[in-house]
Amino acid sequence: MRRLILALDVYEKGTALRVARETADYLWAVKVNWPLILGSGLGIIRELKEETALPIIADLKLADIPNTNGLIARKVFSAGADYIIAHGFTGRDSVKAVMDLGEVIIVTEMSHPGAREFIQPLTDKLVELANELEPFGIVAPATRPERVSYIRKKLKGDIKILTPGVGAQGGSARGVLEAGADYIIVGRSIYASENPRESARRFHEEIEGGVR
Ligand code: XMP
Repeated sequence: MRRLILALDVYEKGTALRVARETADYLWAVKVNWPLILGSGLGIIRELKEETALPIIADLKLADIPNTNGLIARKVFSAGADYIIAHGFTGRDSVKAVMDLGEVIIVTEMSHPGAREFIQPLTDKLVELANELEPFGIVAPATRPERVSYIRKKLKGDIKILTPGVGAQGGSARGVLEAGADYIIVGRSIYASENPRESARRFHEEIEGGVR
């Protein structure tokens, strides 16, 4: 089973398609974020799907009123995205507006140091929200495996945990999988490496239990 997600945070279409093509054998999905959509246009989602035949996650971290979240999500799902990442702190109505249109992944905690200020104190409530709405998954920080185990214990078993923060931000893939994560998100350590395919292969092996 493939459990690696490529965070393709580059601007340029040619680079994005090349890195996705070179690494696709080791990926479960490709995640696109604002840098790539702003740099290459929304059409990049369809192009990446055609290039890789993999699911595409649009990491827009939607955090608006229900009407605006819905207007954005409609465009992004129509462009071919299979999943959209949305913030939960804006409330269940905002998240539901996206869930009415397609599969959602809810942010419950973030991987950077500043996440301790405002998001981490809300994690329990955000996990409760996820248990109530039953999205495809939630995002939790690979930089804090102890928080991933904490969230896994509180979260309904069939909701997936996706964890960014491996590699460039210091988290370890094996550590966070052992803590209960289902998928590992890696960006810079793959796309900015000298050999993205080899880097993805090594993460894949680590995930499968080998040594990196
Ligand atoms: P790097 O280059 O650090 O990229 O491997 C990580 C990717 O994941 C996104 N990211 C997050 N997304 N919650 C999220 O929903 C988080 O805590 C988080 N931390 C990183 C980041 O934008 C990049 O695409």
